[in-house]
Amino acid sequence: MDKIRVVGGVALRGRVETSGAKNAALPAMAATLLTGDAVQLENLPRVRDILTTRDLLEKMGAEAEIREDGTGTFRAGEISSLEAPYELVKTMRASILVLGPLLGRFRKARVSLPGGCAIGARPVNIHLAGLEKMGAVCEVAHGYVEASTAGLTGAYIQMETVTVTGTENLMMAATLADGETVLDNAACEPEVVDLAAMLRAMGAHIEGDGTRTIRIRGVRRLRGCRHRIIPDRIEAGTFAVAGAITRGEVEVANCNPEHLKAVLTQLAQAGAEISIGKDGFRIRGRDPISSKNVTTYPYPAFPTDMQAQYMALMTQGDGIAIITETIFENRFLHALEMIRMGADITVEGRQALVRGGRPLTGAAVLASDLRASASLILAGLVAEGETVIDRVYHLDRGYYRIEDKMAQLGARIERIR
Ligand code: EPU
Repeated sequence: MDKIRVVGGVALRGRVETSGAKNAALPAMAATLLTGDAVQLENLPRVRDILTTRDLLEKMGAEAEIREDGTGTFRAGEISSLEAPYELVKTMRASILVLGPLLGRFRKARVSLPGGCAIGARPVNIHLAGLEKMGAVCEVAHGYVEASTAGLTGAYIQMETVTVTGTENLMMAATLADGETVLDNAACEPEVVDLAAMLRAMGAHIEGDGTRTIRIRGVRRLRGCRHRIIPDRIEAGTFAVAGAITRGEVEVANCNPEHLKAVLTQLAQAGAEISIGKDGFRIRGRDPISSKNVTTYPYPAFPTDMQAQYMALMTQGDGIAIITETIFENRFLHALEMIRMGADITVEGRQALVRGGRPLTGAAVLASDLRASASLILAGLVAEGETVIDRVYHLDRGYYRIEDKMAQLGARIERIR
């Protein structure tokens, strides 16, 4: 299994290009099931989760091709199976995103129920409750959700918690339902807005995406389209922290700084100098790094997907920072690895108290999830000596060639095969 080796002590300098957003590409690929026409997607990141979704679509009998340049062609004209099998779902929870499109178009679906994962229980009850309100019957048997409907109908759905993939699943299902669906307490994430833009290009009637109330008026059929996936705000944010933590100067190009407002504001409060352009930003890390508290919330607030990376930064702060995680109940496993590198962090329930100013020393560490892996690279960039990160497959699920991009900025980093 691959590992990543980082030798700390280099201030990163230079320019890095952001890839397409994994979490926007996943629902977009699921949405290609809503039509029999060809759909062209651009700016797909060639990361493991995207290739897994391609395999899933192919397994269902759809055509799915992703080229080296990140463009893809998808056509779900003939479907031979309406099932997302356990073998694929267990490696990628986002497979649940095919449930809404399959039910909407084919009125039937069998999708393996994703289990918990390292960061929390991550149930899908809100997805299922919403589909049931629209007239589906969802039963859980043998580890699968078996869903069917005589035809989905529009409904008023008050979602009890803000859920990103839940909002996406219900929005996709509703595009082909009979009548109007209202999703209240919907997620406002840029990935939801990107999916709505794609669905509109396919002929869907959607209003209010980007707000807490989304209205979808169902249509009889959707057509093919060409759609460009938005840049990955979490990847961009990860490189921003790389600039700040190493006291380097990094230009993060080809991203949408609007999507990173909370992250960049937080990094500026922590002392980084940031200048924002139209399609990117420049960050200069400065001493001292100020310890500032942060709490994760749904968009537009500070994202849970940047919490681990921010924790790495706070280990180098000039005081105490309290990091509160409100989205997932167990997303502090990286703290335990950072402690092994010399960080002073106390975790109590949903809060981590990070005492800054402790020099980190390189160590062999284990990645527990995607963003935790990234945070350990960031910690390794400022640690004395060598950090070797194991379980790099987590990283490969969502970051496109992160070690090459970091190396381009001067980091001493390599993949050990
Ligand atoms: N929740 C429920 N019931 C549901 C759905 C969600 O209780 O039916 C709870 C979850 O357990 C969690 C909270 O609601 O406590 C929010 O979870 P959400 O459903 O929004 O998460 P998700 O849609 O499964 C997406 C991203 C995650 C990101 C979260 C939060 C994708 C494919 N995944 O997950 O990304 O952390 O939203 O922003 O879009 C990552 O990229 O590393 C990653 C984990």
